[in-house]
Amino acid sequence: MKKTLMIYYSFEGNTACAADFLSQYPDIDAERLTVEKEPPKKGFGKFLLGGKSAVMKEDPGLRPIEKDPEEYDNIILGFPVWANTYPPAIGAFLKKYPMNGKNIFIVACSSSGSATKATDNARKATPGCLHKGAVSLTDPLKDKEAAFAKLRELAEEIEKA
Ligand SMILES: Cc1cc2nc3c(=O)[nH]c(=O)nc-3n(C[C@H](O)[C@H](O)[C@H](O)COP(=O)(O)O)c2cc1C
Repeated sequence: MKKTLMIYYSFEGNTACAADFLSQYPDIDAERLTVEKEPPKKGFGKFLLGGKSAVMKEDPGLRPIEKDPEEYDNIILGFPVWANTYPPAIGAFLKKYPMNGKNIFIVACSSSGSATKATDNARKATPGCLHKGAVSLTDPLKDKEAAFAKLRELAEEIEKA
């Protein structure tokens, strides 16, 4: 049986909600990325500084992770879409762990439901990987059942990978 690790970043809990759901599957482990530098949680700076940090690929100061991604065949990258791309925590993770040769699945959360560009960017940032399924979730905390239905399909796809 192949092992799967979901590596995710969540600023406001939506991607964490997806990760909590997927980690109920016995073959899926999850590790949340944490960083030193985040935008303010509220106000103007939230979108402005957060969006800028993603577009400019700023170094967020990734904290060490506990699990070893090398022990897994399948990696699920989970993240919120920030300014149409992946957030700095994911960029910093991929810089440290290029994930070459692994099956990559993507779970992208957004408020618009439009994650195509962010997903494409995440694929471009993992050139040595085998790109498998991707799901786009619209703020899972607002409609958990819709998100869980898509995640169930993803879990089935991962089982067959
Ligand atoms: C800095 C920032 C930038 C964002 N940019 C976008 C965006 O470009 N498109 C979009 O649909 N949602 C955008 N959002 C909304 C989040 O992607 C969305 O609410 C997501 O579900 C949050 O996931 P999280 O709770 O795991 O952080 C942005 C949110 C933040 C904080």
